[in-house]
Amino acid sequence: MEEAKAPATLRNREPILEVLKQYVRGRKNLLEIGSGTAEHAVYFAKHFPELNWVTSDVQPNHKVIKETLTENKVPNVAGPLLLKVGEDDFPRTSFQYVFSANCLHIMSWKEGKTLFKLLGKRLREGAHVFFYGPFNYDGQFTSESNKKFNDWLQERNPKSAIRNFEDVLKSMEKFGFELIKDHEMPANNRLLVFRRLPFQQEQHS
Ligand SMILES: C[S@@+](CC[C@H](N)C(=O)[O-])C[C@H]1O[C@@H](n2cnc3c(N)ncnc32)[C@H](O)[C@@H]1O
Repeated sequence: MEEAKAPATLRNREPILEVLKQYVRGRKNLLEIGSGTAEHAVYFAKHFPELNWVTSDVQPNHKVIKETLTENKVPNVAGPLLLKVGEDDFPRTSFQYVFSANCLHIMSWKEGKTLFKLLGKRLREGAHVFFYGPFNYDGQFTSESNKKFNDWLQERNPKSAIRNFEDVLKSMEKFGFELIKDHEMPANNRLLVFRRLPFQQEQHS
């Protein structure tokens, strides 16, 4: 049986791939934020051979990302770039897609809002952003297991928490994105797909 450094990636990669297939086309650049072990990156990139999938994460994760990339040798996966949201600037490359799985509930909400602002500043019209993970709706957990998971997160770090879908939506809209679809995913997760609207100066004030 296949083993993984992050076992959840084995369970969620197929349903995520099915959604990505609906949106990802052609010879474009995708930035992954918080690549973790890079197991998503090497799996997804194989299915989009024209795509340049660029991994990124905080410094302590670079070792495992490099190991995964060396073990798998997928030609269209690059990085890891150093990108700690809240400290590092967004890379200068032009990205048409940004993918981030299970990160918004790990980083602080302040970092989350910084990320939305950076995306609004750097992505051009038509760029897509994918956020995978658990979300609350109207301030409510969608399952008992998500509530337990949130308790566990907050014990580890009081700044981590499952985010409210409505807060993410409001903040992304503020920085120039529209929600295309909120995909229901297995195990009480969601995959939010946003698209960058035409640039408007006032969105960044
Ligand atoms: C639960 S892991 C998810 C890893 C991977 N995306 C996955 O789904 O298996 C959360 C990731 O968020 C990253 N992360 C946390 N805070 C961050 C920040 N401020 N900027 C960038 N990445 C951050 C962590 O380093 C870690 O890789």
